[in-house]
Amino acid sequence: MIAGPIAQIDLGALRHNLAVCRAAAPSSRIWAVIKADAYGHGMGQCAAALEAADGFAVARVQEALGLRAMGISKPLLVLEGAASETELSAVLSMQVELTVHSSRQFDLILSQRQAHPQPRLQRIWLKLDTGMGRLGLQQTEAVALIERLRSTQTPPLELAGLMTHLANADDPSHPMTAAQCEQARALAERFKLPLSIGNSAGILAHPAARSDWVRPGIMLYGGSPLLGQTAAALGLRPAMTLTSPLIAVRDLAAGAPIGYGSTYRCPAPMRVGVVAIGYGDGYPRHAPTGTPVLIRGRRAALLGRVSMDMISVDLRQIPQATVGDPVTLWGQGLPVEEVAEQVGTINYELLCRLSSRVRLVHDQQEPRF
Ligand SMILES: Cc1ncc(COP(=O)(O)O)c(C=O)c1O
Repeated sequence: MIAGPIAQIDLGALRHNLAVCRAAAPSSRIWAVIKADAYGHGMGQCAAALEAADGFAVARVQEALGLRAMGISKPLLVLEGAASETELSAVLSMQVELTVHSSRQFDLILSQRQAHPQPRLQRIWLKLDTGMGRLGLQQTEAVALIERLRSTQTPPLELAGLMTHLANADDPSHPMTAAQCEQARALAERFKLPLSIGNSAGILAHPAARSDWVRPGIMLYGGSPLLGQTAAALGLRPAMTLTSPLIAVRDLAAGAPIGYGSTYRCPAPMRVGVVAIGYGDGYPRHAPTGTPVLIRGRRAALLGRVSMDMISVDLRQIPQATVGDPVTLWGQGLPVEEVAEQVGTINYELLCRLSSRVRLVHDQQEPRF
């Protein structure tokens, strides 16, 4: 028995979810978003499994360099672009496409290109802020940069396209999405530029976001990007199943307290299980009593506070449960969205916050304890 959590990663599910994305946006090319260690699923293995994507998108230069070091040769896009000359120099010969979200970033690239004796071609994507209000050029700034690029003799610099990010695509009825898509589309058409809009929610719920390039993330991992819609209803399969074994089964008396702060007291004599997972593994500490887990195919409720290494669960409905039984925290049979809702967070956060103590096991093996 391995007395610790395992995140089993179903690479077949990743491939299936990529196919769902292709079917939803058949004319689009796909940047598979594998930042944050592929949303906690292991970047290298996921990149290999998502071989049918057209390229990979990451947040930071460091992540792109990591992929190149692993021998990944596909096109790469850095969504935050380069933050400094050091980062620019690091990607110089790596054929990494860079987002440019500010005039400062653009000037940094230009001066680096001019200073270099034989600069190689650098592809850039201009990021337009159409309402996300995070990174991005205002419309007038974007127009000025494009005109500057087109009218002056620049070192090898190719404007690969225009991108924008949707702020409310998870709500299919939100009026802002259409306006964001329209603004980006009009600018791309004016300058005949390839366009990239759709994240997972955009791809699945907003036809106007199915642009030349799309950037799916959460849907590839089998998470639902849409409020109130299950991943299963969208045809997605969970890529991660997080399990950890029961390490104790105890019969406690009525009134017995459970865990730090004694926030839960047994209402009657009851069987309680202790599972080897806690906030030290990335399981959320604020998961309340009642948060579901799955044991022998049946739901059981978390009891009391989450500790660093353990949680307690109610075994009254599963009296046959024994030490060593795998307990599913989310994944197959227990959608991560359901747990996220109980905890007051989103599927994204639960998936990508697992700590290095959780062992990632890639493929379709049964978890071994
Ligand atoms: C710029 C950008 N594009 C695409 C994505 C992928 O989004 P999602 O995981 O919702 O598909 C993200 C994720 O945060 C992002 O920041």
